[in-house]
Amino acid sequence: MAVKIGLLGFGTVASGIPFLLKENHSKIAELAGTDIEIGKVLVKSTDEANRLVSQGNDYDFVYSIEDILADDSIDIVVELMGRIEPAKTYISQALKAGKHVVSANKDLIAVHGQELIGLAQENEVLFAYEAAVAGGIPILRTLSESLMADKITRILGVLNGTSNFMLTKMVEENWSYDKALASAQELGYAESDPTNDVEGIDAAYKVAILSQFGFGMAIDFEAIHHKGINVIKSEDVSVAKELGYVIKLVGDIQETDSGIWAEVVPTLVPINHPLSAVNDVMNAVFVESIGVGQSMYYGPGAGQKPTATSVMADIMQISRHMLEEKVVKPFNAYQRQSRLAKAEEVVSAYYFAVEASDEAGQLSQLAQLFATYDISFEQVFQAKSIEGTALITVITHDITKTQLDEITAAIQNSDAFTLQNAFKVLGG
Ligand code: HSE
Repeated sequence: MAVKIGLLGFGTVASGIPFLLKENHSKIAELAGTDIEIGKVLVKSTDEANRLVSQGNDYDFVYSIEDILADDSIDIVVELMGRIEPAKTYISQALKAGKHVVSANKDLIAVHGQELIGLAQENEVLFAYEAAVAGGIPILRTLSESLMADKITRILGVLNGTSNFMLTKMVEENWSYDKALASAQELGYAESDPTNDVEGIDAAYKVAILSQFGFGMAIDFEAIHHKGINVIKSEDVSVAKELGYVIKLVGDIQETDSGIWAEVVPTLVPINHPLSAVNDVMNAVFVESIGVGQSMYYGPGAGQKPTATSVMADIMQISRHMLEEKVVKPFNAYQRQSRLAKAEEVVSAYYFAVEASDEAGQLSQLAQLFATYDISFEQVFQAKSIEGTALITVITHDITKTQLDEITAAIQNSDAFTLQNAFKVLGG
């Protein structure tokens, strides 16, 4: 007897599954408690099926989801199509048909996860998605199982490989943003439309899912503030370097007395912080908690074999569960009422890059403006002065989100100054 899976889509990640089934066959069969076989594969057209067959992927290809739903021999549906539709409809139908589902679809789970989790519970089937966050890093089960006794206070993550690759090139090789993007596209990291990667949307999807596992709170995707790497200027990169930081796109979830705060923003990371060493396409999740303290989980956040390995582990967990006929439990059992933190409780140091005319007294006027909102400087740096314009960069002491909004608006409204950028600064 074998557990049969129905694959929805046969792209990069899906093609890693036959590799594992072949190369790691006996361990997978032993730990899953059964052989695992690819029963059917849903593709879009006969042309696609013929192309896959010519590449050595000789499966039972079907062109309608009904062929998988109606097949009683298929126990687990594995959705690897990505995006919202038709993936959402197909997953819903599979859950309603009493099939377990594995997915790697972060966009879908971040936005509609609660609905699908509810459907899985109603139909007493499992819905697992380890690969949806940071591909090959086993972070979701680590949070829900290995750290179940711990209380997590903050999660910081480098969660998008494409933008991390680009930033690494901009920091280490002084590449421009455009050159870094062209290279990321050439190497196949960024999509032809790289919006989700460079605007922080892809990382924000992962933050939404991490907040459920780390803090038991499902927050609306719209409540997660995101700013991408497309706003970073080469001056920011060089000043940050000069001051002992590297700029990373960091997902940040922290809990205060009033609730949780979640965002994805370009962040100055001190060079002695472990996240500063996460380079190229690699991802990492840095967890602060009352028990373990600080721990970091590092690895490939995308790619065929890493992501397929996480997907396969979900399939094996479900196979084991089927054999043991255990009670159906949600992938993440930690659930609390969602509460968002008050802006005045969330604090951090900030980097401001401000343009001013290069005249006497400008710096003290800027300091006075900051002082109006009770913000003091920890470091001040004048990056350059070109044709009478100076770029003044400052790093503040800790300020609240309320102060951040106030000073941002004040600089934007002032005649004397132009705000180039304002980025969060992590402590060392
Ligand atoms: N485009 C994503 C990245 C893939 O670059 O990390 C995984 O979500």
